[in-house]
Amino acid sequence: MTFQLHILAGLLAAAVAIPAAAQFARPDDAIKYRKAQMVLKQAHLGRVAAMASGRVPFDAKVAADNAEIVSVLGRTTTQGFMAGSEGGNAKAEIWKETAKFNELAEKADAESGKLLAAAKAGNLDALKTAVAATGGTCKACHDAYRN
Ligand code: HEC
Repeated sequence: MTFQLHILAGLLAAAVAIPAAAQFARPDDAIKYRKAQMVLKQAHLGRVAAMASGRVPFDAKVAADNAEIVSVLGRTTTQGFMAGSEGGNAKAEIWKETAKFNELAEKADAESGKLLAAAKAGNLDALKTAVAATGGTCKACHDAYRN
């Protein structure tokens, strides 16, 4: 057990040591990664949104579990847009306006954090507000940078 933990710790250390720029061997891998994390965010935000709109009965634990995934994935938003990975449905402006793009990602990340806080607090009214705000930050970036 201890031995396995050591191996795991070693693997994690190696993974963390890889610089962000070398995370994807090929541009296609970066495109796949960013699409995958976006799809996951949509799925888990959708589950919270279904409760906020009353389509699905509100369950604070389920809302918090899903909001947590949206919140964690918020930190991955910019990672799949490495230099040279222009393509997919991503507008080329992303690679010219990196600061603006990153700012929109940070806004989405911040709202996802509020979504998680509202879900954890079990407050349906706060959750409704947070779902709308989070969805708004997704849309703001898509309107600017997605084809
Ligand atoms: C900072 C900008 C930005 C933010 C914030 C953002 N997205 Fe995206 N999203 C994009 C871009 C750019 C694409 C197109 C990526 C591509 O095709 O390579 C995309 C694509 C997608 C797709 C389509 C994926 C596919 O399979 O083609 C979904 C679904 C999606 N986003 C959901 C979300 C959700 C939900 C949120 C908020 C929780 C979000 N996005 C936040 C920029 C953003």
